Amino acid sequence: MGDNARLTANSLLSANGLSKSFGGIRAVNDAAIAVPQGSITGLIGPNGAGKTTLFNLLSNFISPDRGEVIFDGAPIQQLQSHQIAQQGLVRTFQVARVLSRLSVLENMLLAAQHQTGERFWNVWLHPQTVREEERRQKERAIEILETVGLAHMTHQYAGSLSGGQRKLLDSLVL
Ligand SMILES: Nc1ncnc2c1ncn2[C@@H]1O[C@H](COP(=O)(O)OP(=O)(O)O)[C@@H](O)[C@H]1O
Ligand SMILES: [Mg+2]
Repeated sequence: MGDNARLTANSLLSANGLSKSFGGIRAVNDAAIAVPQGSITGLIGPNGAGKTTLFNLLSNFISPDRGEVIFDGAPIQQLQSHQIAQQGLVRTFQVARVLSRLSVLENMLLAAQHQTGERFWNVWLHPQTVREEERRQKERAIEILETVGLAHMTHQYAGSLSGGQRKLLDSLVL
C-alpha cells in the first residue's frame, strides 16, 4: 500500500483526484485530502484558491467532474444532502444561517426530526407523547448548549448572538 492509499484507508473522510471546472476556470484540480478520525483538520489558501469549491464537493453540494469522496468507508456521490447529514457529515456555511427572530433554543428544537407532533392529528390523539418528546428535546438541547458555552443565551433571540456564537449554533445538531 502506498502512503496515499494508507492515509485514505485510515480516514473518516477522504477524496482523491477531485476536479471541478466552471467554464474555463479550473477551480479544483486533482485534489486529494484525508481527514483521520478524531482529528481537527484545516484548509488554508488565498482567495480564489478553490477552498469553497472543495468544501462544496466534499459535502456533495456540487458534483465533481472527476474523482470521488469517501465518508466512513463509502462514496457519497449517490447520496442526497439529508442522507449525508444523517450519516454524520454535516457542513456549515461561511456566513452562519440562523433564524434570528426565534430563540436559540427554538432554533435547536427545529433540528429535531421525526417528532410525533409533526403529524397534525397526533397533537390531539397523543398529546402526552408530543409533550414528553418536546421535554426530552429541550433537555438535550440545553445539555448541548451547556457543552459549547451557549447556555446563557438559551432564551435570547438567535439574532442577538455574536458572529462566533452564531457559527456555533449553526453547527449544533440535536
Ligand atoms: N459557481 C461558480 N461559477 C464560476 N466560477 C466559480 C464558481 N465558484 C467558484 N468559481 C471560481 O473558482 C475559483 C475558486 O473559487 P472558490 O472555491 O470560491 O475559492 P476560495 O473559497 O478558496 O476563495 C475562483 O476563480 C472562482 O472565481
Ligand atoms: Mg471561499
